[in-house]
Amino acid sequence: MADSSKKVFLQPSEISRRVKELAGEISRDYAGEEILMIGVLKGAFIFMADLVRALSIPCQTDFIRAASYGAGTESSGKIVMTKDVELVVDGRNVLIVEDIVDSGLTLQYIVDTLKARNPKSVKVCAFLDKRSRRKVPFEADYVGFTMDDGFIVGYGLDFNEQYRYLPAVYVIDPVGHHKNEEQQ
Ligand code: PRP
Repeated sequence: MADSSKKVFLQPSEISRRVKELAGEISRDYAGEEILMIGVLKGAFIFMADLVRALSIPCQTDFIRAASYGAGTESSGKIVMTKDVELVVDGRNVLIVEDIVDSGLTLQYIVDTLKARNPKSVKVCAFLDKRSRRKVPFEADYVGFTMDDGFIVGYGLDFNEQYRYLPAVYVIDPVGHHKNEEQQ
């Protein structure tokens, strides 16, 4: 990312420190229990990889994938599951791990879907929370960082499937990036 339309929002050191804090909090809250950590693909894969390795409690892992109809930077409102979890949810302490809560529609759908399968408990851990963008009143139980509006990439988050691999989190100008791509 060598263009001028990006700004560092979170450095890797800040991310690492906060992930360890979250893992400590989660490990204390679930002391004596086992959790089933369910990552929401694709964006959560890096956050979940760091979080799971910082836990001090037993944990199984699985993944789910949901998509909203429509392209671009906005959720359209209609969510569909495109990959289900493979492990049994019944009786488990489910901890859903997500990269970002925006409108809240994706997590509301996933929480409702998993709650219908008789889990012992369901909680949500989100790396980033764009609180001002909610279309539904959704609250995550654990939040890494809150932010105002802005388009972000890195640490699992993408723009047109680019930049997920970046170790820092950047705010970009999506319009500027469209222009840059058209010029290439
Ligand atoms: C992003 C993000 C969340 C969702 C949040 O996923 O990872 O799942 O949008 O938006 P919402 O709160 O408005 O529902 P995206 O559909 O971009 O897929 P990805 O994780 O594969 O990048």
